Amino acid sequence: MRTLKLALLGFGNAGRTFAKILEDKKQEIRENMESDILVTGITTGSRGSLYNPEGIDLKKAWSDLEKQGSFDRNGNDYSQMTSMELVESGEYDVIVEMTPLNIFTGQPATDHLRKAMERGKHAVTANKGPIAWHYKELKNLAEKMNVQFYYETTVMDGTPIFNLKDETLKFCKVTEVSGILNTTTNYVLEELAKGKNYDDVIAEGKKIGFVEADPSMDIEGWDAAAKITALLNVLMEADITPKDVDRTGIEKITIEDIKEADQQGKIIKLLCKGTMKEGKVAASVKPTLVEQGDLMSVIEGTSSVVQITTDLMGKLTIIEHDPDLLQTGYGVFSDVLRIVRNLV
Ligand SMILES: NC(=O)c1ccc[n+]([C@@H]2O[C@H](COP(=O)([O-])OP(=O)(O)OC[C@H]3O[C@@H](n4cnc5c(N)ncnc54)[C@H](OP(=O)(O)O)[C@@H]3O)[C@@H](O)[C@H]2O)c1
Repeated sequence: MRTLKLALLGFGNAGRTFAKILEDKKQEIRENMESDILVTGITTGSRGSLYNPEGIDLKKAWSDLEKQGSFDRNGNDYSQMTSMELVESGEYDVIVEMTPLNIFTGQPATDHLRKAMERGKHAVTANKGPIAWHYKELKNLAEKMNVQFYYETTVMDGTPIFNLKDETLKFCKVTEVSGILNTTTNYVLEELAKGKNYDDVIAEGKKIGFVEADPSMDIEGWDAAAKITALLNVLMEADITPKDVDRTGIEKITIEDIKEADQQGKIIKLLCKGTMKEGKVAASVKPTLVEQGDLMSVIEGTSSVVQITTDLMGKLTIIEHDPDLLQTGYGVFSDVLRIVRNLV
């Protein structure tokens, strides 16, 4: 029986859902992969940390956090360790980066991943910042250190896009990527089309959890720009950052624009695109008129879609329907399993 030790940075929605899947599938992993996966460290921003090289009691960890808002300060595994201290000196085989996104720098997540890989540890990230800002450097580092580095959850949760390209579309060259990658703007455009005013749509969206407390990163297209950058960096080796994306948000779209589109049999969607132009990848995020009935026009609410054009497999379309946190947790889980599988 092999034992793989994980250090989790961040134990919010993504971290706890991943931990629950891991616990739930423990026996199946043992039986099918002859492996035990232990979590030896968990850090948070303000709720304390846990550390035990023999393995943390995951059920207690998430139950304490959900019941009392922090880890048990009197528990044996309670620790004051910061994320960087765990990364630099903890006992683990895989770092799992699930801290909040800084969309303009990719930090501190990039530093965590870099330092872990420099120590010869494998790395998984759900945080798209490092892939949007420092992918090439991190990928080269992983190769140099002979460690595995995966990031499936960073775009469309656990939907297999990077996996698909790596494992199933070997030697296919991706020549174009397009998609609807930001669900908040999708929701806002749909609600505006019902004749509601912008402020009401945002207020209602916040209430039901479709819109962030500060929606500007979504509305101004930054989130979509970070996602298309991550996709293009990995699938087309673009080596760009979100600043290189020709970006227009939906903040200036009015009900009149939506009605005019409707009269032409069209619908407005915030479309992300990456194509080759003069040997370089050109990326854009723009409100775009889409024919009603087109595949892109039927992507509603929290669903998202990506279309990949390849030289050998033509155009492929992948839709993620109405995801919730389970898909996020599964994305991280599938990356960890990939590491286990490749070590066998
Ligand atoms: N939620 C999703 O559906 C989803 C989907 C795909 C990707 N992601 C990505 O996954 C990551 C986590 O998302 P989430 O939804 O789990 O966020 P979340 O619920 O806000 O949780 C973030 C966690 O990170 C902790 N944290 C903050 N700063 C930290 C630091 N310096 N070191 C260690 N932990 C730190 C927070 O602790 P405190 O609570 O104490 O601050 C909390 O435990 C983000 O990068 C996000 O973009 C999320």
